[in-house]
Amino acid sequence: MTTCLTVLGLESSCDDTAAAVVRVSDRAKILSSVVFGQNALHAEFGGVVPEIAARAHAEKLDICVENALLEAQCTLRDIDVIATTAGPGLIGGVLSGVMCAKGIAAGTGLPLIGVNHLAGHALTPRLTDGVAYPFLVLLVSGGHCQFLIVRGAKDFTRLGGTIDDAPGEAFDKVARLLGLPQPGGPAVEACAKSGDASRFRLPRPLMDRADCDMSFSGLKTAVLRARDSLIKEHGGLRKRDRADLCAGFQQAVTDVLRAKTDRALTIFRADTGASPTIAVSGGVAANMQIRSALQKVAANQSAAFLAPPLALCTDNAAMIAYVGAELFAAGHRDDLALSARPRWPLDQSSPAMLGSGKKGAKA
Ligand code: KG4
Ligand code: ZN
Repeated sequence: MTTCLTVLGLESSCDDTAAAVVRVSDRAKILSSVVFGQNALHAEFGGVVPEIAARAHAEKLDICVENALLEAQCTLRDIDVIATTAGPGLIGGVLSGVMCAKGIAAGTGLPLIGVNHLAGHALTPRLTDGVAYPFLVLLVSGGHCQFLIVRGAKDFTRLGGTIDDAPGEAFDKVARLLGLPQPGGPAVEACAKSGDASRFRLPRPLMDRADCDMSFSGLKTAVLRARDSLIKEHGGLRKRDRADLCAGFQQAVTDVLRAKTDRALTIFRADTGASPTIAVSGGVAANMQIRSALQKVAANQSAAFLAPPLALCTDNAAMIAYVGAELFAAGHRDDLALSARPRWPLDQSSPAMLGSGKKGAKA
């Protein structure tokens, strides 16, 4: 990008209220990135409650923007563009962000851009490392799981994704089944450390199918069945049982992601003729077993592997500001008629995905 743009980004599509200021010229620089999480508000319900999330976003967005500007040592006069997540996600939350951004745009006359939340995750490797197009991304979190070829800020090809649960959602459900705390991912990973992954024969749904689609719902049900028969046999779960179930479950998820990543890399090479870079993004990318398995697959295919820092893998507004900068530079503009889109697939040509996860609508 030849011109220098300073973008204020807003994010409120799920359970994080976030604002950030990003300056983009040849490289991107995050001047501030503020995130207010809502875990405590939803903890007693075992999942995100959309109405509570929306109210909390509406309450916190103003202060979040103020803090982001303060941290960046900016005022609204230093901002060139306002970018806000306009979907996909929980409608109430997305609306809060869109309305806040519209208010700022109307008050200042600044240009407004509605950003696809998934594009934010997908372009994070450009924000953090300036990765050149095209590249491959695996988004793997509590609400998303898909492989994308990224060719531009509005040019995505979805190679496949989950047809039911996202892996993070499955980690959370398995933790709940085994009486472990939320969020389930880190708890299951810790418990799996002392477990024997081969004790239970757990399924690897769709693993051998020659595409990049995945399914994690049956795996979670298999853990439920194994748990119930252990309880029946021993009158409860022993420490060893819990560890073995966690290890078996984590191994099954790892095997599926490894096999599908291998396939996605092959498709990427055939499709683009480029030497692949694969970036993994989303909360599940924090899992060390999964991360190192993906790193190995990439190495076997002579592909570069990239995992952005965790704070930029999970929901944040810096990624939204960055996409806003790329879109603005490409001539894209929205106006005050911008609306919230609870469903908004990145690749409009690929078939719609099923289900709606605990963390909002999948796209
Ligand atoms: O990206 P994220 O913060 O939020 C969205 O889903 O958008 O991802 C959160 C998900 C949760 O389901 C959490 O259990 C999972 O990522 N997660 C993990 C680990 N850390 C977080 N899953 C597996 N292993 C981990 N270490
Ligand atoms: Zn997200």
